Amino acid sequence: MSYSQIGFSSALVVVLLLLVCFSQEAKCVLNKKKLLASFPTLYVHPLGLLGRANFSSIQAAIDHVPSNNRYWIRIYVHAGIYREKIVIPADKPYIYIQGEGKWKTRVIWGDYGSIMNTATLTSLADNTVIKSMTFTNSYNYPPERNLNPIVPALAGMIMGDKTAFYRCAFLGMQDTLWDEQGRHYFKLCTIQGAVDFIFGSGQSIYERCSIMVAAWPLHGVPGYIAAQGRDHPNETNGFIFKDCNIFGTGKTYLGRPWRPYSRVIFYNTSMADIVVPEGWNAWNSKGKEHQLTFAEHECRGPGANKAGRVKWENNFSVGMVQKWTDMTYIDSDGWISNQLFNMLD
Ligand SMILES: *[C@@H]1O[C@H](CO)[C@@H](O)[C@H](O)[C@H]1NC(C)=O
Ligand SMILES: *[C@@H]1O[C@H](CO)[C@@H](O)[C@H](O)[C@H]1NC(C)=O
Ligand SMILES: *[C@@H]1O[C@H](CO)[C@@H](O)[C@H](O)[C@H]1NC(C)=O
Ligand SMILES: *[C@@H]1O[C@H](CO)[C@@H](O)[C@H](O)[C@H]1NC(C)=O
Repeated sequence: MSYSQIGFSSALVVVLLLLVCFSQEAKCVLNKKKLLASFPTLYVHPLGLLGRANFSSIQAAIDHVPSNNRYWIRIYVHAGIYREKIVIPADKPYIYIQGEGKWKTRVIWGDYGSIMNTATLTSLADNTVIKSMTFTNSYNYPPERNLNPIVPALAGMIMGDKTAFYRCAFLGMQDTLWDEQGRHYFKLCTIQGAVDFIFGSGQSIYERCSIMVAAWPLHGVPGYIAAQGRDHPNETNGFIFKDCNIFGTGKTYLGRPWRPYSRVIFYNTSMADIVVPEGWNAWNSKGKEHQLTFAEHECRGPGANKAGRVKWENNFSVGMVQKWTDMTYIDSDGWISNQLFNMLD
């Protein structure tokens, strides 16, 4: 069968199962499993051709997906360590990569020196979903076993629209995750780093994520969690951290503006005492702080004490905060809520 035939027949199965699903809600869970099983799947195993595995590298499986792919294809990645740098090209949308567990399926590479082209995972395609795996940039990580100077060394660079990560980890030190462009959803993910380690102009919700600060190698100089890159008042992008947990070692600012209209909001987030009292740093926006949107709403923990915060931190009404923290901020057209392999509950 050719790929388009596989795609077409599995699309038919999907439609039929969905109809059954809507008419008999109780059986839906079962059907969702069948539905997933009906997707064309490529299997990756670190030892290569073993059992049903077709590939020994994730990139080889991605390369096998045809250009301008129109139907979801699943790439199932068995547990193990994959020493490779992965690119999902812009002309390969609808790839769902599923690992065996956040700490079980691990991709490790160690390119460094620039934010361009160093990421262990580069995702350029729209409609991409990745679940249950870790992407590490090993150049400065783990810090306790590493003497390299701290330089930009990315674990992830996300440039496509409609991209979701569930139970994934991005591990690095400086510029760990370049969340640059498009609407993104990170749920139950772990992001570790010290300097600007979540940065870019993405329009993203980070929900129930662990923000692990590893700033002790900076020897007392505070690090920065978010360096958001909103560039103009007409841009809709921003980083929303919702129900997250900030902890780790060293000291950290919550964020600083990478570009002049930077927007970062922490909502219902637990903050350990590693957050510096000022909270935010103005960086190149000194004197233009009024252009920034930096806010905390209903956060808790010793790091959330606002007594020492910069005077220009925004205070928003509940309504304003709801507008950003609601899923409609990234999902007004339902690309997440209608997706089969979402993890919304
Ligand atoms: C994957 O391997 C199985 C069995 O080893 C084979 O039947 C199938 O055609 C392979 N699929 C691809 C896309 O190579
Ligand atoms: C936003 O502003 C920039 C710069 O003035 C302009 O180039 C762009 O077209 C504007 N975009 C929208 C959607 O208004
Ligand atoms: C706040 O976050 C915690 C931890 O994720 C969650 O259990 C709780 O339901 C959230 N509270 C609200 C009001 O959303
Ligand atoms: C927000 O409220 C705090 C505490 O009342 C205040 O110090 C701060 O200046 C306010 N921020 C702005 C931008 O007015």
